[in-house]
Amino acid sequence: MPQTIIVSNRLPTKVQRTDDSLSFQPSEGGLATGLGSIYRQEGNMWVGWPGLFVQDEAEEQYVTEQLSADSMAPVFLTEAEIRDFYEGFSNSTLWPTFHYFTQFATYEQTHWDAYVAVNEKFCAAVLAHAGPEDTIWVHDYQLLLLPEMLRRARPEATIGFFLHIPFPSYELIRVLPWRSELLRGMLGADLIGFHTFGYMRHFLSAVSQVLGLPAQNGQIEVEQRAVRVDAFPMGIDYDRYAAAADSDAARQHEAAYREVLRDTRVILSIDRLDYTKGIAQRLRAFELLLARYPEWREQVSLIMLVVPSRDQVAQYASLKEEIDELVGRINAQFRTITWTPIHYFYRSLPLEELASLYRLAEVALVTPMRDGMNLVAKEFIASKADQRGVLILSERAGAARELSDALIINPTDTNQLTEAMHDALVMPEEEQRQRMTAMQALVRRYNVFSWTRLFLNQLTYTKMKQQTLA
Ligand code: UDP
Ligand code: G6P
Repeated sequence: MPQTIIVSNRLPTKVQRTDDSLSFQPSEGGLATGLGSIYRQEGNMWVGWPGLFVQDEAEEQYVTEQLSADSMAPVFLTEAEIRDFYEGFSNSTLWPTFHYFTQFATYEQTHWDAYVAVNEKFCAAVLAHAGPEDTIWVHDYQLLLLPEMLRRARPEATIGFFLHIPFPSYELIRVLPWRSELLRGMLGADLIGFHTFGYMRHFLSAVSQVLGLPAQNGQIEVEQRAVRVDAFPMGIDYDRYAAAADSDAARQHEAAYREVLRDTRVILSIDRLDYTKGIAQRLRAFELLLARYPEWREQVSLIMLVVPSRDQVAQYASLKEEIDELVGRINAQFRTITWTPIHYFYRSLPLEELASLYRLAEVALVTPMRDGMNLVAKEFIASKADQRGVLILSERAGAARELSDALIINPTDTNQLTEAMHDALVMPEEEQRQRMTAMQALVRRYNVFSWTRLFLNQLTYTKMKQQTLA
């Protein structure tokens, strides 16, 4: 039976070396958590990097066996590939450019060369597993060249591509020395998906301006092949998050935290440590809240979970220092013997503990400068069985296109963000319920399963149309 092969840089399981043994843990990040619920269905498989440098062949074989028992095929990367492909081109060129942080972008030929080579490595790995009838679904910015490489090797293959980060305006794309190659790489797919119509329009405009290929009704003609482009806002596994929040484990954790916090009200933020997430700006807005509204002192705490990420990239390391410094300063200024303004955790947590934090929080702060979608916003909503709680959401997260019942803010407007926190804390219960009920209906319905179905059905349809026109 034909299967779907998911391909992404990071596998949903990361392998870590602790002392002398290896441990297998779930990966963080929206791509891995979102698709983690679907790849095991119907004999599908996932090709990607397990996040570990293997020391020898025996270890490589052991990791391969362990992962293949769970339908994953690892692509091992060397230290040089991690440095030049992952930390280099992927996270120091593409990530900042696509999130409108061009001041952080570098343009290194060696990084580009490694990007091409690693995309080729992924191509070989996929071809080793994919039969002619299989559907190949490539994900995200680390593998923009892969669709075209696969197309060259298998002209008839069914190939989908989905971008999990924003696609920026042509003005940003044109800065990239390798812009034509990157766009052509994506166009090797039959269907290209984005989280929002805005990203999709930017892509069509870049293809037209850089490659001179016009689009008609979301379709681009590439060497007599019709490539379809569309928006598919990604959802979450709603029931999984609702059930986790309702579990005994989550309730027990919540009760334990509540005992320590007593009746302090909780504002929550959860992100990977990333300059796109607006973490420092959010801290300044919380500081302003305490300064401007002294009545909230000793009444409200911010619980901030920051997940370590890409710490070998310079901007991430310096952001970590900035956050440490800000949290220290704000806590030192406002804390009392019985109250801590900011509870700051720099680690990742298992699902039940995340769920207990979602339960505990009255307000969730999701305030990125730019974010492809942001699944934390949707997970908070799915966790609120009693429909109480307020989501404060950046207008520049893809999720804001759907979640119009959140308090939508401009994350660079500290004043507006501070006022939104105050408004959220005084919002009547009835209004909270109305907003939450509307958002829950949407997040429950447009979940990750319907998202997958929609994308794969559209891909099958696109392929069929190509064949009837041929
Ligand atoms: N997450 C996690 N462990 C943690 C904290 C967060 O697995 O300790 C998950 C979180 O539940 C969410 C994902 O990481 O599913 C973050 O996805 P999002 O789309 O919000 O942002 P991204 O990290 O992809 O930029
Ligand atoms: C975002 C990206 C993913 C990436 C994740 C975690 O969600 O869109 O492609 O996997 O961040 O980042 P990392 O660099 O640890 O894989």
